[in-house]
Amino acid sequence: PTLREFTFNITQAMSAPDGFQKPMILINNQFPGPLIEANNGDTIRIYVNNLMSNWSTTVHWHGIDQKNSTWMDGVAAVSQCGIPPGENFTYEFKIVDQRGTFWYHSHLSVQYTDGLFGPLIVHDPQEMVPAYDKERIIFMGDWYHTYASVLVASYLNPTSRWMQGESGVEALADNLLINGRNTYNCSVISTTFPPNHDGLPTPLCDESQGELYVTKVKKTKTYRLRLINHGTFFSYWFSVDNHMLEIVEIDGVEVAPISFRGVNVNIGQRYSVIIRADQPVGNYYMRATFPTTCFLPFVPYNSSGLDSTGYRVLGVLSYDDTDPKAPPIGVAGNTTNPYGAADNPFNKLVWEGCNDMPFDMPVPMRQEAAVDVSPYNMHYLEYAFRQSQNENRIFINKTSWAPLENNATLWKTIGQNFSVAPNSYNSWAYSLDQEVLLVPEANAGVQVVVNSLDAMEHPWHLHGHEFQIVGWGKGLYGEGQPTTWNLQNPMRRDTLTIPAQSHVVLRFLADNPGMWAFHCHVAWHMEGGMFVQFLERPSDLTNLLDNTLDRGVRNKSMNFCYRSG
Ligand code: C2O
Ligand code: CU
Repeated sequence: PTLREFTFNITQAMSAPDGFQKPMILINNQFPGPLIEANNGDTIRIYVNNLMSNWSTTVHWHGIDQKNSTWMDGVAAVSQCGIPPGENFTYEFKIVDQRGTFWYHSHLSVQYTDGLFGPLIVHDPQEMVPAYDKERIIFMGDWYHTYASVLVASYLNPTSRWMQGESGVEALADNLLINGRNTYNCSVISTTFPPNHDGLPTPLCDESQGELYVTKVKKTKTYRLRLINHGTFFSYWFSVDNHMLEIVEIDGVEVAPISFRGVNVNIGQRYSVIIRADQPVGNYYMRATFPTTCFLPFVPYNSSGLDSTGYRVLGVLSYDDTDPKAPPIGVAGNTTNPYGAADNPFNKLVWEGCNDMPFDMPVPMRQEAAVDVSPYNMHYLEYAFRQSQNENRIFINKTSWAPLENNATLWKTIGQNFSVAPNSYNSWAYSLDQEVLLVPEANAGVQVVVNSLDAMEHPWHLHGHEFQIVGWGKGLYGEGQPTTWNLQNPMRRDTLTIPAQSHVVLRFLADNPGMWAFHCHVAWHMEGGMFVQFLERPSDLTNLLDNTLDRGVRNKSMNFCYRSG
């Protein structure tokens, strides 16, 4: 095991990844942020210098369990307060029995949307994936030309023109980036960005600055593409013209290989796919679609970016010494679709709505039975969107999470008569709260039933664990259609698309004392309160804090107040 050290200098800067200049948040002047690469068992130490002038910040290591190091999880107002402007903070954690594809991002409000994110890859010679020659990171996500804090304020405001504006759509994306770049049609600005838009200076747009991501491949070689969605609002159907994608890893869990025409990657999710360079030498487009079928009646703000088939070109897979600028020879969707001739990317890959795939389709390589559930560790969640006090909010069990100022108090009370926030609100009245679900029993199974009362899919992400997906069905749990169970080697992952008006049953083992976030990864929704916390084994957590935690770190992380700038 090795200690791997990194320094992150976080700054604000104007930058134009797709040719359209916007204020961004950068790490070491890079976008996306630097690659963190380590081996299973290594310790990672990151010195974070917050050089921004008026924003606090944090960094969260998405998918890394933080075994016995919950205070390094980097969630503002949950595991720490924001690192104030001009201050620094050192993250240090060990990778314990994990491998695969991860990423990191700011976890303070919607800040990551402006660029504070990067990939994190964990290698392990024991990893059970088929052999491949090379690997490539395909880091993609929706992109916004307006500062995210402006967009979220607008999103939460039911009267804003972003909600009811020109085309009646929400604060939808301006572009889709792959590894921090894409092209952009500057003539679109005049319609989507009126002058004086949100008080920002008229942005500069220079089409010659935008470019497609190009990756070179050698005929007959095999490649592992590590797909990561760093987005804010959308899942994407990713495909490569004329090539099949063989899924071998999902959120750090190796699965028996399954071949698809493409794969739907929701925010925060990761897929490793093996692709064979077995086609005639030439260029092939990598594409993604906005899943408009999942978001009806919503449409992408800048729908002009879609081609006639509804695909958005993201990049070029370029064989041997083909000039990457030469016209591509592939055709979107021309490969035999295992799900039928129509090549509707959502055909059969959707599960009564918009979902990754049937939950029992991927089969983990490492066998694991469903954990037995302890009656003390049972939870039931229900979420819905409501307007309250002139804000669009999301309520879970009738509370809407907010980063309250009492974080330090919350932590100090752990182990001293800490009591769970009562789940007893009897109306949909506006209530900003930090819903805390108590997991008292050590090393016992935790079951969480999540009910969606909403008409849209949502990507749910759990910190501190990967969960088992043991049950699913339409409607409310126990009230709608029957639950389908899978208790033998259920799929495990850390970010799951929960379809509209349906339920899922998740389980995990209470083997990691901590305060863990569980939230929708749509940044606007997270900020709108779609977020709960699990307080796992508070008494063990107290011991951990007292016995193993360096006091300096403890004081530093717990005592800063939340400041959003
Ligand atoms: Cu990707 Cu709570 O985070
Ligand atoms: Cu959501």
